[in-house]
Amino acid sequence: MIRVDVELAERSYPIFIGTGLLRDATLLGRAIKTRQVMVVTNDRVAPLYLDSVLTGLGDRQIASVVLPDGEEYKTLESFSTIMTALLEHRFERGCTVVALGGGVVGDLAGFAAACYQRGVRFVQVPTTLLAQVDSAVGGKTAVNHALGKNMIGAFHQPAAVLADLDTLATLDVREFRAGVAEIIKYGLIRDREFFEWLEANLDALLAREASAVTHAIKRSCENKAEVVAADEHESGERALLNLGHTFGHAIEHALGYGSWLHGEAVAAGMCMAASMSARTGMIAPTTRDRILALIARAGLPVTPPAGPTVDELLAAMRIDKKNQGGRIRLVLLDAIGHASVRDDYDAQALLDVLASGAVPPAA
Ligand code: NAD
Ligand code: GLY
Repeated sequence: MIRVDVELAERSYPIFIGTGLLRDATLLGRAIKTRQVMVVTNDRVAPLYLDSVLTGLGDRQIASVVLPDGEEYKTLESFSTIMTALLEHRFERGCTVVALGGGVVGDLAGFAAACYQRGVRFVQVPTTLLAQVDSAVGGKTAVNHALGKNMIGAFHQPAAVLADLDTLATLDVREFRAGVAEIIKYGLIRDREFFEWLEANLDALLAREASAVTHAIKRSCENKAEVVAADEHESGERALLNLGHTFGHAIEHALGYGSWLHGEAVAAGMCMAASMSARTGMIAPTTRDRILALIARAGLPVTPPAGPTVDELLAAMRIDKKNQGGRIRLVLLDAIGHASVRDDYDAQALLDVLASGAVPPAA
């Protein structure tokens, strides 16, 4: 088992990465210390892993909430379902909420843990690649609103993250690739060596070879832990973790949540950011092509979907937490391994990039 620590003074916590973690009663007991435990999961993950976790938790007051599966259920209504369960079971402030699932369950359960009785203990048990490399780490929690993705939420760090690699075996190929998008992101924004490792080892990673998967998760978590430790509440460097996300969130919003996976939208968004960076002269066209080639090899989209108009995508981009004074701020690339947040880009370049897959506005 590998351990990566997120250093946040008295709120520091470990990320455990390994196999057999869900069956490891000692580890579960160490991470989840309280008498009352509420496990939040969904109806796809529950039949696969809920029993293991409940068995591992042993003799305590345990309850579970099984939500419907899907990004379209990352809502205040599902949040309310969790609250009702906590209240009905008379859970006290000393309880723990456990998120068992992908990023949707993690974000929802984390937001519930942040709010219930003004904040209770929270443990992440991520079961998708995307959640293991990104969403389970760092304490961002949220639900979507009809007017914008992740616009309602809180920072609430978990007390521990248990990433059991065995759970990835049941992940379908599309969801596995969606996780690879966020892995590539770390190479692009701050870790050129990791990007080069991915170029050399992508096939092994996609084939889910244990050593490649373990290295990719470990290196991603190390990168994320360093960023979160330096800038927990995103006043600076943490914004770079949003490479491709302003475009990606707009794609998800314009298509309707659940149509494209989050990681797919982020992949297309990273390509759009790379194209913007090339158009504005920040990177060479050959660098852009190298980035698009890796993302394409991962089986991920490199252009936005046909369908949403430029105006629809632009409208969705205007609802973004990075925006300031009404100006859309974008994470762009200065090089592979180096990114910055910019609002001084050429507006026409943005329109051209948005139109590269979208239906242009009527003449
Ligand atoms: P997801 O949670 O919807 O999971 C993808 C699919 O895989 C779902 O159908 C899920 O039920 C299923 N699944 C989960 N584990 C499985 C397993 N082991 N075997 C089989 N199926 C399994 O999506 P995701 O890609 O994990 O996460 C995307 C969400 O995470 C988005 O809502 C995004 O906004 C959020 N996110 C949050 C952060 C953050 O920092 N908080 C970072 C990145 C993404
Ligand atoms: N996924 C973006 C962040 O955690 O900041």
